[in-house]
Amino acid sequence: MKTEWINEMIELVKNDVITWRRYLHQNPEVSFQEEKTAQYIYETLQSFGNLEILRPTKTSVIARLIGSKPGKVLGMRADIDALPLQEENELPYASQNPGVMHACGHDGHTAMLLGTAKILSKRKDHIKGEVRFVFQHAEELPPGGAKEIVNSGNVDGIDMMIGIHLMSTMSVGKFGLAYGPVTAATDKFEIKIVGKGGHSSQPENSIDPVVIGAQVITNLQQIVSRNIGALEKAVVTVTQFQAGHAYNIIPDSVTLGGSTRSFDPEIRKNIPVWMERIVKGIAEAHGASYKLDYSYGYSPVINDDQVTKIIENTIIEGWGKETYAIIPPIMGGEDFSAYLEKAPGCFVFLGAGNEEKGTTYPHHHPRFNIDEDSLAMGVELFVRTANKIVM
Ligand code: NI
Repeated sequence: MKTEWINEMIELVKNDVITWRRYLHQNPEVSFQEEKTAQYIYETLQSFGNLEILRPTKTSVIARLIGSKPGKVLGMRADIDALPLQEENELPYASQNPGVMHACGHDGHTAMLLGTAKILSKRKDHIKGEVRFVFQHAEELPPGGAKEIVNSGNVDGIDMMIGIHLMSTMSVGKFGLAYGPVTAATDKFEIKIVGKGGHSSQPENSIDPVVIGAQVITNLQQIVSRNIGALEKAVVTVTQFQAGHAYNIIPDSVTLGGSTRSFDPEIRKNIPVWMERIVKGIAEAHGASYKLDYSYGYSPVINDDQVTKIIENTIIEGWGKETYAIIPPIMGGEDFSAYLEKAPGCFVFLGAGNEEKGTTYPHHHPRFNIDEDSLAMGVELFVRTANKIVM
């Protein structure tokens, strides 16, 4: 398999990719409102030629590069949304949209996929099958954009899906690869405990929801420590406890809220069951009533072994064995999982951290930034994978 053309092409689009990334960085839009972003992507794709461009939803874009011979359909995904956060970087291309910032690298993801589309669109005659470029909206805000795109039917027929996420906490020049679990299921809950309010001096005449709520919080800790095996991965965290407003009033009710993380589908299904058993038992024991709202967020991203092996080999061929590490899963969430319910795939991390350039702030931080040298590497991984699968 000849690959000299890849390096030539990367050189050719390298600066475009940085220009696109900076434009996107300067003009961030939050989830489900990426109208100008989608328009920019659409117009940029149009300038390449050879692509069939679709708009599956109001703020997403898909480009299909259909080859001249039949073959596999390779899907590639970039998320395009920004975060409701005020940028604190002093950059010539800092956000011009107050209170909105690309603080997770999605500007880079979008630019990398545009660069890939530009390169591959020039290779249409060499393509067997299809490459489908998915520019997905609203990764940051459940229920997420991926589900909408999947439901639109526009990723039907994909044989394999790959996605790259930049990572400022990993050194530029490195890939992070995981077999199996990559990101967790991210679900959330709200528990309302209704007692009976009254004077703080006469607790015997009330049903104190504060004391009951405190017991619920303590007992919820037993889900992970006593119901789930020590080798499994799960988190139950209470992050909110709202109760009362005065020092001498026992409130009528309290509200607890929080989130849970898990990987195993059986455990995921059981967490709300265990949760309800605890809340019901404690509330009833003390004469209170309760309401539990549990909502499922993103499913876990589970990389397919075969596709991951292909990506691993692609990295080794392109850069050598020292370029990547096998990494443990993270308890964060990603809606890339929605595609993996349709087709096997792999979600890869790409290092963008560089101490000297000040790009090691964590994701979602107001000073988050990436080392732009990572972008060409991301494009190259996409192109090399296409070269393997559809050329
Ligand atoms: Ni992200």
